[in-house]
Amino acid sequence: MSLTTFSRERAVAHVGRDADLPSKITVPYLLEKKSLQRPITAVTAYDYASARLVDEVGLDVVLVGDSLAMVMQGHENTLAVTMDEMLVYTRGVRRALRRALLIADMPFGSYQADENLGVANAVRFVKESGAEAVKLEGGRERKDLVRRIVDAEIPVMGHIGLTPQSVHRMGGYKVQGKTMEAIDELRTDARALEDAGCFALVLEGVPRELARIVTEELDIPTIGIGAGPDCDGQILVLHDMMTMTFSPPAKFVRRYADVGGVMREALEEYRRDVEARTFPSDAESYHLSREMRELMAVAAEVR
Ligand code: KIV
Repeated sequence: MSLTTFSRERAVAHVGRDADLPSKITVPYLLEKKSLQRPITAVTAYDYASARLVDEVGLDVVLVGDSLAMVMQGHENTLAVTMDEMLVYTRGVRRALRRALLIADMPFGSYQADENLGVANAVRFVKESGAEAVKLEGGRERKDLVRRIVDAEIPVMGHIGLTPQSVHRMGGYKVQGKTMEAIDELRTDARALEDAGCFALVLEGVPRELARIVTEELDIPTIGIGAGPDCDGQILVLHDMMTMTFSPPAKFVRRYADVGGVMREALEEYRRDVEARTFPSDAESYHLSREMRELMAVAAEVR
């Protein structure tokens, strides 16, 4: 048991202070932000507590990314996480959010082999976990699928550039769009996804010059990760920015806090306290009432 009930007042207290901010982030609002040239703020989250912090702080978008396969489950890449597992994490995040837009990432294998399955899985995210949109990786080869999911009334965010589900084809996590041919391909993919109905595009691991061109060419917002500052918004993996990972970060990661370091120190102190029997103290213990203590003393004497 842990006391972590939801107080709606507290949740909206922060964002409510700014009259300009809407009380609920929607897909049309993200498009409006692009036209107003106001940056879109996004981050990944995979659990109730961290998603609640993200929401209370007032970020626009929470993505339950398939990066959870790596940072939550310890896999080497994103490929192993299943649809059912993604649904479990997304439900926890759903319970935490009141304002931010909740986007669920379609995991590897949930849409590549069969478009019907892709549409059915997108529906599962909305119906079974409360996601408000889905994200999927790939370029123009996904346009029919995107169209069909959008026709099913589910907003789709595309994801091009460095697409982690293609790690084996790419031969590792490498910056994409560096040759003339690759630049043309990426621009074509971006336009195809916009035409198919995507409401936004993640641009991952591409040169900032290319991200800028794509951002200018599209009416829908681009959300960059390792794509420079000229995108319409930015997203980071929460564990990267909080130093909850165990290897040197990629170039584009900014460490905003050393949560891992703080937890390590706290855990070491806890271990020392338990071993020295200084935790819990008397003040941290429950007590019988004075009457009960006296009754027990009498009972002990009688025995
Ligand atoms: O899975 C993920 O976290 C992502 C973001 C990096 C965009 O796809």
